Amino acid sequence: MKHAQILLFIGKGGVGKTTCSVTTAVHLADKGFKVLLASLDPAHNAGDALDCSLNDQKTSVTPTLDALEIDLETLIQRYLKQTSEMMRHTYRYLTVINLEKFFEMIQYSPGIEEQATLEALKNIIFQEAFHYDVIVFDTAPTGLTLRVLALPSLSMLWTQKLTGLRKKILDLRSSIAHIHGEKYLTVEGIQEKLATSEDDDATMRELRQYHTEIERIRKTLTNPNLTSVAAVLNAEEMPLLETERAAEALKKFQIPLKLLIVNKVLRFEQTPPEFMRKMQQQEAIIARASQAFPQQTLLQATWQQEEPRGLEKLRQFCPEAAEFFMNLL
Ligand SMILES: Nc1ncnc2c1ncn2[C@@H]1O[C@H](COP(=O)(O)OP(=O)(O)OP(=O)(O)O)[C@@H](O)[C@H]1O
Ligand SMILES: [Mg+2]
Repeated sequence: MKHAQILLFIGKGGVGKTTCSVTTAVHLADKGFKVLLASLDPAHNAGDALDCSLNDQKTSVTPTLDALEIDLETLIQRYLKQTSEMMRHTYRYLTVINLEKFFEMIQYSPGIEEQATLEALKNIIFQEAFHYDVIVFDTAPTGLTLRVLALPSLSMLWTQKLTGLRKKILDLRSSIAHIHGEKYLTVEGIQEKLATSEDDDATMRELRQYHTEIERIRKTLTNPNLTSVAAVLNAEEMPLLETERAAEALKKFQIPLKLLIVNKVLRFEQTPPEFMRKMQQQEAIIARASQAFPQQTLLQATWQQEEPRGLEKLRQFCPEAAEFFMNLL
């Protein structure tokens, strides 16, 4: 089976990321594609938009649409538990480190939400990519999402540095072992040789495995045949500026931005006089956006008198985004 297309909807708070991502998922599912909608936003709005209750397990919304919302708190706890178990095993000879205290502290450390979100993104893609045609991600507002998307490239640098350091340690150990003989440790009643080669070293194995996983997710997110980002904005100055900054960051990390959706565009048959100025500003922003993003497709989704919530209304809302992505499938 083919690898699913990964669609990520990003944008400033409140512009309509959830509405546009959920709408696109519904339209694609209605066309017969097998779709997984996954919300990475801790604010839990995908269920509100679909007007159904979702949790961190897949729920079937229509015969071809499944949806889930990640629970960041559970994820952070699970991530810390896995990491602490792995560290407890790998470093079981280092009894001087109090792991409990260490993990109590790092659960509040900056960056932990981003790391846990990346773990979720990675797990969903690795586990589900061959079960769906499309995986649509609704994301948290720009800042957090960009930090998550930056992590694979940054983590690659870290693992390369750490691997280099570990190699030096192993080389030193090996030199000492040549002079003084191999060193043995008794850990939990079992005698073990202190690793001197890369293949015997649990830390090096762990680094290699992490490197492989992070490289795999980085390759997926930077592959324009697999991943597409849609930036949602409103026809206002601040969302446009934020979209431009986001686009620069995505470019730096080589993550393909393909689509811009200007949402909540006002359309009147006859513009009321008090909206004249607003309409001029709206047109000016849309013109600037299409000039600033010549390589992206720009779509407009009109402001709806009633919030596009629930399957029935979502089916009437912005089918163009799904049509754009259908051409990539
Ligand atoms: N085209 C539209 N017309 C009318 N209302 C809309 C439209 N698009 C979105 N909305 C409404 O605007 C509000 C914000 O939309 P939504 O939750 O999709 O934004 P978001 O970018 O996901 O927000 P957050 O950053 O909080 O996750 C919601 O109440 C939604 O129903
Ligand atoms: Mg949202």
